[in-house]
Amino acid sequence: MEIGIEMQENIRAFSNLMMMYECAIREVKTKLEVLDAEFSVRYKRNPISSIQSRVKKPVSIYKKLKKYGLEISEENILNGLHDVAGVRVVCPFIDDIYMVAALLAKQDDITVLKVKDYIKNPKENGYRSYHMIVEIPVFFSKGKTPMKVEIQIRTIAMDFWASLEHQLRYKKDIEKVEGHVEISRRLLACAETISDTDRQMQEIKQMIGDFNDLS
Ligand code: GTP
Ligand code: MG
Repeated sequence: MEIGIEMQENIRAFSNLMMMYECAIREVKTKLEVLDAEFSVRYKRNPISSIQSRVKKPVSIYKKLKKYGLEISEENILNGLHDVAGVRVVCPFIDDIYMVAALLAKQDDITVLKVKDYIKNPKENGYRSYHMIVEIPVFFSKGKTPMKVEIQIRTIAMDFWASLEHQLRYKKDIEKVEGHVEISRRLLACAETISDTDRQMQEIKQMIGDFNDLS
């Protein structure tokens, strides 16, 4: 099959854009790794347990643009979508989340565009996480481009729940399963149990003595 010139050009432009998002992710990851490394030396403790990242798949980009009624174009992806680049940060304790978020937000090359605090305001299904949409400049040969990155920060416990809930929900359309009200109720109950445990671990840490006040 022959691919037309226009198609080739579109594919090239799309690959280039995805490369740019990959680079934005690397910038954010480096910032997080630097904070974690500094902490590790200063306090012999890591406020970050793990970092995962992903660039949104082409199909999902297409679906989301369609949902927003936008044509597929480089401009619409850059301006209309905020979760093409995603970084997930998993922390041991609840207060690590707010510390990491604050330390990132105060860096002068980071602009925080939006914050959704699903820890203070959990979703109805029990989902908890701290979400930030940030803009970060990435330097390419043609100059610097501000790129949007979605950062999700959560505890190990919140990540445990969200990962399992995501698996369960996406395997099947829960709404269509018999007893879905009971399933949702039980998932919510698990979220509450986990959240209570998170709070207790936080309190135990405070009883031992706060050792991570980076002032
Ligand atoms: P999306 O269209 O899903 O990107 O949502 P949004 O643009 O309204 O943003 P929001 O901050 O609410 O959610 C963004 C991301 O958080 C999702 O893509 C998921 O990765 C995660 N998330 C949000 N809600 C849930 C949930 O109920 N369960 C799980 N497992 N993850 C969630
Ligand atoms: Mg999303």
